[in-house]
Amino acid sequence: MKSPPFSFLIPLVLAALFSFSWAALPHETFLHCLSLRSNDSSSISRVIFTRQNSSYESVLEARIRNLRFNSSDTPKPLVIVTPTQISHVQATIYCSRKHGLQTRTRSGGHDYEGLSFVARVPFVVIDLFNFRSVDIDVENRVAWVQAGAILGELYYRIAEKSRTLAFPGGVFYTIGVGGYISGGGFGLLFRKYGTAGDNVVDVQFIDVNGRILDRESMGEDLFWAIRGGGGGSFGIVLAWKLRLVPVPENVTVFSVSRTLEQNATELIHRWQYIAPELPDEVYPSVQLRAINSTQDGRITVVASFISMFLGSIDELLPLMEQRFPELGLTRQDCTEMSWVQSIVFNNGIQNQPLEILLNRTYRNPVITPYYKIKSDYVKQPISETGLNGLFSRLTEEVASSTVIILFAYGGIMNRIPENATPFPHRAGNLYKIFYNVGWLEDDKVNAERRIDWARRAYNYMTPFVSKNPREAYINYRDLDIGSNNIGDTSYEQASIWGHKYFKDNFNRLVQVKTKIDPENFFKHEQSIPPR
Ligand SMILES: Cc1cc2nc3c(=O)[nH]c(=O)nc-3n(C[C@H](O)[C@H](O)[C@H](O)COP(=O)(O)OP(=O)(O)OC[C@H]3O[C@@H](n4cnc5c(N)ncnc54)[C@H](O)[C@@H]3O)c2cc1C
Ligand SMILES: *[C@@H]1O[C@H](CO)[C@@H](O)[C@H](O)[C@H]1NC(C)=O
Ligand SMILES: *[C@@H]1O[C@H](CO)[C@@H](O)[C@H](O)[C@H]1NC(C)=O
Ligand SMILES: *[C@@H]1O[C@H](CO)[C@@H](O)[C@H](O)[C@H]1NC(C)=O
Ligand SMILES: *[C@@H]1O[C@H](CO)[C@@H](O)[C@H](O)[C@H]1NC(C)=O
Ligand SMILES: *[C@@H]1O[C@H](CO)[C@@H](O)[C@H](O)[C@H]1NC(C)=O
Ligand SMILES: *[C@@H]1O[C@H](CO)[C@@H](O)[C@H](O)[C@H]1NC(C)=O
Ligand SMILES: *[C@@H]1O[C@H](CO)[C@@H](O)[C@H](O)[C@H]1NC(C)=O
Repeated sequence: MKSPPFSFLIPLVLAALFSFSWAALPHETFLHCLSLRSNDSSSISRVIFTRQNSSYESVLEARIRNLRFNSSDTPKPLVIVTPTQISHVQATIYCSRKHGLQTRTRSGGHDYEGLSFVARVPFVVIDLFNFRSVDIDVENRVAWVQAGAILGELYYRIAEKSRTLAFPGGVFYTIGVGGYISGGGFGLLFRKYGTAGDNVVDVQFIDVNGRILDRESMGEDLFWAIRGGGGGSFGIVLAWKLRLVPVPENVTVFSVSRTLEQNATELIHRWQYIAPELPDEVYPSVQLRAINSTQDGRITVVASFISMFLGSIDELLPLMEQRFPELGLTRQDCTEMSWVQSIVFNNGIQNQPLEILLNRTYRNPVITPYYKIKSDYVKQPISETGLNGLFSRLTEEVASSTVIILFAYGGIMNRIPENATPFPHRAGNLYKIFYNVGWLEDDKVNAERRIDWARRAYNYMTPFVSKNPREAYINYRDLDIGSNNIGDTSYEQASIWGHKYFKDNFNRLVQVKTKIDPENFFKHEQSIPPR
């Protein structure tokens, strides 16, 4: 094909345009600022990545968990800073403010909407993965953990020193403690010991002015806000001091599966009454997914009743026989193991050595690489008809990689006041529903259809779940429930999603934000606005 006239000029024109805009690019002056701010400019230059650096992409992608945000049209940061010293964090905050760049803080990168590394304005990512020391103090039952450590590193280091101490954190252990605890954080010990945020005793924190604060110097209001008010709103957590909790030498895990043909609907219906009332030592959940029935190849739903129990099989069997005989739990369904082994077991990788907990890039094959999440809280048991309506949606072809999990509430959650931390979902909840709509690489073309399914199923559930507000869990971030218009920091706009995540705690979060960051430097689509 013949080139259009003057096509040879195009590269020259582009180059001219490029170098012209280059000088004006905000990040050039930003980089200059960083080098001026740094006491030791050679050390800060080793932790700065722009698109010109060959490792920019690998550093960015290393902590993109949800591949929905790994596409070519996902906005990318101008600069990534991977601090190795606190002064690098302070310099980045100072220079971002000075040059009008937004910053996003990333610890483990698991944000379900990618907010730790995606923004629609020019932005800088502070990636804390080098801040990952874990110090366990068995005698005083506490740990100092830096924000960029993953839960697995914390669990592994605890287990190295003690078989009878644990931390109440989540199962999927590549989550960063920075974001996880900022959003409350729930896991399999949560009916016994509360959320992760309930077990924070001190913190090392940097505010918008670069001040390094701890619990005492920040005051109780800010210390309250950062243990559940969501990451990215108040400042940057560098490290948490955590309370470790006692667990028996061995815990018991079990999983019992029943299809619809094996009365799964009746069992789940019963489970709604039984599970929230079980002793605090039991952690009951139900996983739901569609499967091809082995008998006739038709699609059915399988419900897996999965539990962890802080005790032995001999104690668990009579308890379940008394409370939930319909489940028909047998000794063969149960296994005893240490608490840390139960984490590996619940990841579905029981034959792996414990060292797998240290693998920060581990991708569990049970989790599809692409997903959209939603959450709901249930306060009244749902009728069998209501449940069946959800199951019939789950058997639609478009839901083939979807998993729905019911997590029982009750236990200590009923006894911790709603305003103890920003996490408000306490007494009055039977269970939480987690909708994980997933898909695989080769199914990307159907992404919109799958997300549409999530929205339809969520709509269908409206009459059965919490109302006014329809509660949602901040760590299961979902921009469908409302978001700030970037630039519009109105309280009215934010209070829509804010009350769903925090109920009446939202107003106190706004007060704290107004005091600590009145100009709203730390912001994203669902950050707390100042007023
Ligand atoms: C596979 C998977 C399993 C999950 N399982 C659970 C579970 O069992 N229980 C549960 O509660 N949640 C669970 N989550 C949700 C998870 O807790 C949240 O996504 C959490 O925010 C992730 O923390 P992160 O540091 O990995 O994420 P990031 O994406 O790094 O951060 C999340 C948010 O916090 C901000 N942030 C990050 N670091 C800091 C910091 N140091 N200081 C201040 N703000 C910060 C970010 O800017 C962002 O807004 C799961 C998520 C995934 C993907
Ligand atoms: C440089 O280092 C000194 C001493 O360590 C410290 O007091 C000062 O705040 C630092 N300056 C910057 C810009 O980081
Ligand atoms: C990225 O490139 C710049 C400019 O060449 C350099 O100064 C910096 O050290 C590089 N960053 C890293 C981490 O190598
Ligand atoms: C993310 O996208 C890049 C660029 O397309 C690709 O090279 C990389 O393999 C992707 N990451 C994963 C984990 O698939
Ligand atoms: C815990 O289980 C191990 C086997 O995994 C066993 O050897 C040990 O005796 C058990 N401890 C207790 C207190 O039951
Ligand atoms: C299902 O329930 C019916 C009626 O209660 C009962 O007869 C049947 O045996 C149950 N099926 C299974 C597989 O438990
Ligand atoms: C059932 O099997 C078909 C054909 O193998 C497959 O395409 C479909 O995804 C399967 N459905 C489920 C829910 O596993
Ligand atoms: C960590 O997990 C990833 C992805 O699951 C795997 O490719 C890698 O080999 C693992 N690394 C180690 C050291 O085991």
